[in-house]
Amino acid sequence: MTTRTPPRVGHLAGRPEQAPALDVDALLDDPQRRIIVCCGSGGVGKTTTSAALALRAAERGRKVVVLTIDPARRLAQSLGIERLDNTPRPVAGVSTDGTGGGSLDAMMLDMKRTFDEVVLSQASPERAQAILNNPFYVTLSSSFSGTQEYMAMEKLGQLHQDALRTGRWDLIIVDTPPARNALDFLDAPERLSGFLDGRFIRLLLVPAKGPARMMTAGVGVVTNTMARIVGAQVLKDLQMFVQAFDTLFGGFRQRATKTYQLLQDSETAFLVVAAPEPDALREAAYFVERLDADRMPLAGLVVNRASAVPAGGLSAEEAEVAAGRLEQSGDSGLTSGLLRLHADRMRMIVRESRLRQRFTAAHPHVRTRVVPALSTDVHDIEGLRRIGGLLAGEVDVPA
Ligand SMILES: Nc1ncnc2c1ncn2[C@@H]1O[C@H](COP(=O)(O)OP(=O)(O)O)[C@@H](O)[C@H]1O
Ligand SMILES: [Mg+2]
Repeated sequence: MTTRTPPRVGHLAGRPEQAPALDVDALLDDPQRRIIVCCGSGGVGKTTTSAALALRAAERGRKVVVLTIDPARRLAQSLGIERLDNTPRPVAGVSTDGTGGGSLDAMMLDMKRTFDEVVLSQASPERAQAILNNPFYVTLSSSFSGTQEYMAMEKLGQLHQDALRTGRWDLIIVDTPPARNALDFLDAPERLSGFLDGRFIRLLLVPAKGPARMMTAGVGVVTNTMARIVGAQVLKDLQMFVQAFDTLFGGFRQRATKTYQLLQDSETAFLVVAAPEPDALREAAYFVERLDADRMPLAGLVVNRASAVPAGGLSAEEAEVAAGRLEQSGDSGLTSGLLRLHADRMRMIVRESRLRQRFTAAHPHVRTRVVPALSTDVHDIEGLRRIGGLLAGEVDVPA
């Protein structure tokens, strides 16, 4: 069993740099909160945190859907979302008895299918088919860097509409793509429509759209040169694609703007997830500043996979001294080795808390929760429940 205790920040407790604790349960229980977005740089635990929060919210009575992006295979298995079909499915093994109607659905983002659906919903059937068959569309929808980020936001918009329409969910938890840069998903809609709107593309559009006499000599030279370089068929495909897509620009921009506004709404909360490492925390700091600049509501920072503080309170120095004594007295065996390992770990813990202190000094108002690293990865409902407890500040029981 786990018990609730006041928030702890280890040996930093009481220092002025201590960050205010993030109250995850208050966040999950607030009926006004309808969207929680977990963001942060790659590999820090965004998917795990999203799934754990979703499970906890459901078990506290919310009707939750969690949108995951590229979950690890075993986690997808235990959530029952191995099949990539873009549909939220009920998760088995969730204890919602007595919660008064809590439920958990999960889905995994299918980037290409989401894009196809947008095209189908925006264009006439013939035009949509022409786009879907175009080789440039196939490339763009399956590999453009930024498409995944954009489609995650697109899917969020759709889920939000479905939630409003059907009442099936009252809380949407969104994982974000494993971007190189944590900010990518905020910039993706702009970048994608910027690309589609760009000068180069406009240039290609001229011969396709305007009457032949409007085609300036300059454009003719460019397209002729392009045709020589990339081949006439490729150029034709590209022009067709751009022309067909042109009619969708308005819709795309509008949807991107709507999602952006949704992210700024007070029903949304962002959680920035970071590892206790300089790069991840630096990235988290950028993110916090960017959210602030874009007036997007930040709920707090989760420092995930922190080194767990061992019981006993033996410091690194004490352990080193003890190990040295043992070695001097001729005992160079297991005990002194273990003491030195303990010293390494304690030094790591001190390093991590210094990094957190630095973050907090620069961002004193950001509420924070430290989640220790479990001894195994998190791939089943029980593991997610345990992470959920840690996120809420419950004291964990050693595995
Ligand atoms: N607190 C934790 N303790 C132990 N393993 C963790 C913890 N958080 C995440 N993991 C593991 O780390 C790996 C990466 O986590 P994941 O949530 O997929 O990261 P991201 O979505 O940010 O790329 C997964 O194998 C996951 O099980
Ligand atoms: Mg992930």
